[in-house]
Amino acid sequence: IILVSASLEALIQHLVPTVDYYPDRSYVFTFLLSSRLFLHPYELMTRVCHLCVEQQRSGDALLDKIRFREVAPKLVQLLTEWTETFPYDFRDERMMRCLKDMTHHVARGDEYSWRAMQQMTQRLIKRLSALGQYEEAVAALNAVALERPASLKSKQASGQRSDVMSVCDDPFILAQQLTHIELDRLSFIGPEEFIQSFAMKDPLENHKRKTSNLEAYINWFNRLSYLVATEICMPVKKKHRARIIEFFIDVAQECFNIGNFNSLMAIITGMNMSPVARLRKTWSKVNTDKFEILEHQMDPSSNFSNYRTALRGATQRSETAHSSQEKIVIPFFSLLIKDIYFLNEGCASRLPNGHINFEKLWELAKQVSEFLVWRQVICPFDRDRRILQYLVTTPVFSEDELHLASYESEGPENNMEKDSRRSLR
Ligand SMILES: *[C@@H]1O[C@H](CO)[C@@H](O)[C@H](O)[C@H]1NC(C)=O
Repeated sequence: IILVSASLEALIQHLVPTVDYYPDRSYVFTFLLSSRLFLHPYELMTRVCHLCVEQQRSGDALLDKIRFREVAPKLVQLLTEWTETFPYDFRDERMMRCLKDMTHHVARGDEYSWRAMQQMTQRLIKRLSALGQYEEAVAALNAVALERPASLKSKQASGQRSDVMSVCDDPFILAQQLTHIELDRLSFIGPEEFIQSFAMKDPLENHKRKTSNLEAYINWFNRLSYLVATEICMPVKKKHRARIIEFFIDVAQECFNIGNFNSLMAIITGMNMSPVARLRKTWSKVNTDKFEILEHQMDPSSNFSNYRTALRGATQRSETAHSSQEKIVIPFFSLLIKDIYFLNEGCASRLPNGHINFEKLWELAKQVSEFLVWRQVICPFDRDRRILQYLVTTPVFSEDELHLASYESEGPENNMEKDSRRSLR
């Protein structure tokens, strides 16, 4: 039987293990993921732990002890699934405290479960400290990238900045390095981050550390688009600009072959930004056949149907893969978020009788768990630190600077462009 709807109380109860019951795995994932739409994870955890302990009480101390010893491994299993799939929930110190309390409680019953709790907590702490390091590293990289040297602002002086092809002129290698960055950043996104943003805003939450790996990932997409546009607008010579465009078309093609749709889309977005798109004379030197095919693949019409077909193809390839390279699927991320957002908006979370619409929660969980499979792929390519460093830190033009650089490359063609340039100066 498929669970369609139930009251919140009943759903919480359904999560609580007993001596002869353990909830189904997909239920555990679905409810831990989406219950945050209705109550705070901390509240859920306290209630589940409380129910689990209370249900064993009979009034007879010895019997209680025996029964708790039987249920303890199941409670440990549930908490293990929680800490492993949603570790960021435990950045809330109340959650950590609750986990500690349960460890003490379990210790009274059985040594084996107590050890399991200890190991689980250690793994969790390791994971959270890796997250802290990652956040610091991203913040440091962003700070470097923002230190825009004055030289970049004027095109003539930008000669000091090396261009992408002087760092890497092989489109295969560049696409592989982009894939590294994508998978690195994807691996830190918690499944709950998709749902968290819809959850009720809690004014008391400001004091605790929030995770925004999802945001960091979207910033990376924008950065890549601006990087592509900067590289194209910067060279003084038309021939050189045309060569960079052709190079990025090859990189985009390679991203497509790898299954890295997010970098592909960022590159296409960069090429379609108006400062790049308006460079008519430059584009006339470029063979655009390959680019048109790629654009067609990512065409937004009919709800991105071409892209969705390609994504399904990549997903099937991934499922039957023999090598980790064939496993790679990196979705066009903004669209994934949009799909989940509309799924949430388009469908009520509660039915008129107050019950929770669990069909919707199954659907949310389905989309997010697909993402979890993609997230866990280990990138098989060799890392090139120099190229990676360049991609994440080299300064890029702002939007206005891009327009100015574009007009310096090819002067304004009409009054509108002349006005636009005047207002920028
Ligand atoms: C677009 O397609 C996705 C996936 O099939 C679907 O979830 C979504 O509702 C569609 N959006 C629109 C506006 O049709």
